[in-house]
Amino acid sequence: MAVQFWMNHGERRTKFVSFKHGYHGDTFATMAICDPEEGMHRLFQGVVPQQFVVDIPSTPEKLEKLHGLLREKKSEIAAVVIEPLVQGAGGMKFHEAAVLCELKRLCAEHGLPLIFDEIFTGFGRTGTLFACEQAGITPDIMCLSKALSGGTMPLAATVASEKIYRAFLSDDADAALMHGPTYMAYALGCAAANASLDLFVSEPRLAQVAAIESQLTEELGRCRGLRGVVDVRVKGAIGVVQMDAPVESEKLRGRFAQMGCWIRPLGDVIYLTPPFVTKEQDLSALTAAIHSVLRVN
Ligand SMILES: Cc1ncc(COP(=O)(O)O)c(C=O)c1O
Repeated sequence: MAVQFWMNHGERRTKFVSFKHGYHGDTFATMAICDPEEGMHRLFQGVVPQQFVVDIPSTPEKLEKLHGLLREKKSEIAAVVIEPLVQGAGGMKFHEAAVLCELKRLCAEHGLPLIFDEIFTGFGRTGTLFACEQAGITPDIMCLSKALSGGTMPLAATVASEKIYRAFLSDDADAALMHGPTYMAYALGCAAANASLDLFVSEPRLAQVAAIESQLTEELGRCRGLRGVVDVRVKGAIGVVQMDAPVESEKLRGRFAQMGCWIRPLGDVIYLTPPFVTKEQDLSALTAAIHSVLRVN
């Protein structure tokens, strides 16, 4: 959509700026914007097109470096894309909302569309309906999936601002976004999404997330000081125990399973992203399992 946005303006721009530790999916174009080293697609280096995968601009130096890249390569760049607030599959890494504000400012300065991949963060996961709200900004394009249908049916939506939409609004068929997967907007998935969104209104979803956040903060906090634990961080319904090195995922998974819990460590993090309707005692069972496994580790 971002590439064609430029084509419709008579420009050919094929590059994207994305961020280290990012994860955006397994198709060719999305593999190309994942972290090429730490991500899951190292095998495909040289197969997928090279993109500008840079540090999250969390310091003035990194921000200046990104600014330099945009200044230098602007005419090639179609858009900047980030998982806002939390980079999920790349290690549950958090950044400040201020980073997103800086990105918005830079993109505005260089006239570049800003894409938020809220596939993981959207629909309450970080404590607000969308992560972008915490920065008080609206991206030009937003990617949604996962909790759009409450995790019940596969469905995704790409949402565009008026500015992007207008670039496609034309009597010329070539200006249209001619992408239509076989099951696009299929009725069953849309019905599931509508039902899930109705429940967002009729049930106290964000209050549930806030309750999970305080419970995770308190209960996972007990892991601080255990051997190998270097950080415990929580945002919304995401709880992370950061280890000092990659864990033996399969072994730990087996021990969690023996305790009746399904917990899948990811590299050097052990994390929980519980469904928002998780009962207090069920969440406690999960946090207690993590604590007891790490205590004897
Ligand atoms: C932030 C983010 N973007 C994209 C994806 C990929 O989504 P899909 O598997 O639907 O292509 C994921 C999947 O985990 C994700 O977490």
